[in-house]
Amino acid sequence: KDAYEIARLQEAIAHTVRGFEDVVRALPTAVGRGERVIEGVFNLRARVEGNDVGYDTIAASGSHATILHWIRNDGEVHNGDLLLLDAGVECHELYTADVTRTMPVNGAFSPAQRRVYELVLAAQQAGIDAVRPGVDFRTPHRVAMKVLTEGLHGLGILREEPEEALRPDRQLYRRYTLHGTSHMLGIDVHDCANARNEKYHGELLEGYVLTVEPGLYFQANDLTVPEEYRGIGVRIEDDVLVTADGSLNLSAALPRSVDEIEAWMAGLWASGPSDLNLR
Ligand code: GLY
Ligand code: MN
Repeated sequence: KDAYEIARLQEAIAHTVRGFEDVVRALPTAVGRGERVIEGVFNLRARVEGNDVGYDTIAASGSHATILHWIRNDGEVHNGDLLLLDAGVECHELYTADVTRTMPVNGAFSPAQRRVYELVLAAQQAGIDAVRPGVDFRTPHRVAMKVLTEGLHGLGILREEPEEALRPDRQLYRRYTLHGTSHMLGIDVHDCANARNEKYHGELLEGYVLTVEPGLYFQANDLTVPEEYRGIGVRIEDDVLVTADGSLNLSAALPRSVDEIEAWMAGLWASGPSDLNLR
């Protein structure tokens, strides 16, 4: 991506940050009326500030977060749920953001939610730290899966030793991780998805923009998982630019740590309605 394209992505991401803030303000309304409120509020910001959403908004509350690409957004939102919001505004020049945050509907993570969240966050940070020119496209995925597998072992969910679970011919973590960690981002949300494999999965170069988005998904009926974790789905996704000597997180304006997210939500609830009169 050249400087013009990066500026367009930054614009799309700035609008997306406002859309996420709108959703937090609207969460008390969503409790009782459902996920449709979240989709509607985010998509309103996308149409007001940008051209549209860059892809169908995923507004997944409670165990819907364990279903990839939950875009029906017709479920209930309960106090005590985690909300997984995967959404991006597309700017008028059609570049799109692609950001995911997972947040507690009532503004406070439970101890079990926090444990899962902090494991995904550690995996995502390791993935972001691995982004630099010259590394293979799949390096962030490999390091993120290693952190998740060690954490799943630590939680007692994966009984096998991590090195066994990570073996390419076993990949036992995949029951809970479900998807890859990165894709390219630009005019298409999955930019250059039709590029030849050896090119797409080749070296990262300065100016590439990719997502880093590991997740953990514990199905509500998965008896291999302790009961307190069943129905929890967490994904954290940022848009990362490859720079000359490392990377820049273009979506860093959205909080990621548990403490930052809780403070961000409390601050938005204390600050009253937005310019779109949403609360
Ligand atoms: N944000 C949806 C996806 O990356 O597939
Ligand atoms: Mn994505």
